[in-house]
Amino acid sequence: MPASPVDLTNTKILITGPTGQVALPVVEHYAKIADVYTLARFRKAEDRARIESLGAKVLQGDLADESSLNIVPEDIDYVLNFAVVKSGDFKYDLAANAEGVGNLMTRCRAAKAFLHFSSTAVYEYCGQEPRAENAPLGDNHRVMFPTYSISKIAAETVCRFVARQRKIPTTIARLSVPYGDNGGWMYFHMLMMQQGIPIDLHPDKPNYYNPLHSDDYIEKIPYLLGAAATEATTVNFGGSQKVSIEEWCAYITELTGFEPSFKDNAKAFGSLCIDLEKMHELIGETKVDWRDGIRRQLDNLAPELLR
Ligand SMILES: NC(=O)c1ccc[n+]([C@@H]2O[C@H](COP(=O)([O-])OP(=O)(O)OC[C@H]3O[C@@H](n4cnc5c(N)ncnc54)[C@H](OP(=O)(O)O)[C@@H]3O)[C@@H](O)[C@H]2O)c1
Repeated sequence: MPASPVDLTNTKILITGPTGQVALPVVEHYAKIADVYTLARFRKAEDRARIESLGAKVLQGDLADESSLNIVPEDIDYVLNFAVVKSGDFKYDLAANAEGVGNLMTRCRAAKAFLHFSSTAVYEYCGQEPRAENAPLGDNHRVMFPTYSISKIAAETVCRFVARQRKIPTTIARLSVPYGDNGGWMYFHMLMMQQGIPIDLHPDKPNYYNPLHSDDYIEKIPYLLGAAATEATTVNFGGSQKVSIEEWCAYITELTGFEPSFKDNAKAFGSLCIDLEKMHELIGETKVDWRDGIRRQLDNLAPELLR
């Protein structure tokens, strides 16, 4: 059944991980219409200033440290949990990413809905087969980020447990490849192409993903919150178009003239596209065409490189 969007206007929203590539445009958008609190460790003074300049409030805390969350107001209406850490230290990353979700939900147990951002990196590699929400899980990203997939799987488990125990309506959204005017994976590929750095590709081609533009994820957040349930709703969250790394690099060549140098590597992540049936049923299709999104990104970040 399609989810009804919640109205976030004038509500109190907590956004964790606000300084990250994915959450920053969300903070920028919602700080204009709601009372936005943000939480991170804020080790860099410029990060704090940046968030405050967007009109959001800054709370300094570490999800791994339960007592540091006492500064979070107890009357938050909605939580968007984007925070993630990939230090490579299993003890800390599991404490921050997995136990951290539990610490946060316990603190915000009065919230009307909790939206946890997970990743399609929780799925076991399975070639070009689109992964549905019940597909086998696995340590997909171990080669680049040793703790990432395992701690994202652990975080989902803690999230489901606390949602049920504390009766907090919750959605777990498994992001594919989020991108926008401020960056994303394809921007790193453009930089590698510019500098002649080889791009590792899984030999089982094409390497498909579902890039999701920030315009789309910002628009879908109220629907994802509307889909929240105490038996947490778990749903894939990507763009409705399936696009391969090979295709987006070819398009970057069209735009910039830089040629990719691909290197086969059986240890590269490999294709990780998603089955969109449940997402489309719940929150509908996305709108931004991937070519427009990439052209806009380059126009914003490196206009001098466009031909
Ligand atoms: N980027 C992608 O391509 C991608 C793909 C799929 C899913 N996702 C998911 O999307 C979300 C955002 O990803 P991202 O790439 O934007 O992350 P990011 O750029 O690495 O940013 C992480 C954010 O989390 C904060 N943070 C880190 N450790 C923390 C802790 N212990 N306590 C509180 N805050 C902490 C960081 O600020 P401080 O360091 O100041 O604390 C920062 O604001 C994550 O859940 C990620 O798994 C991302």
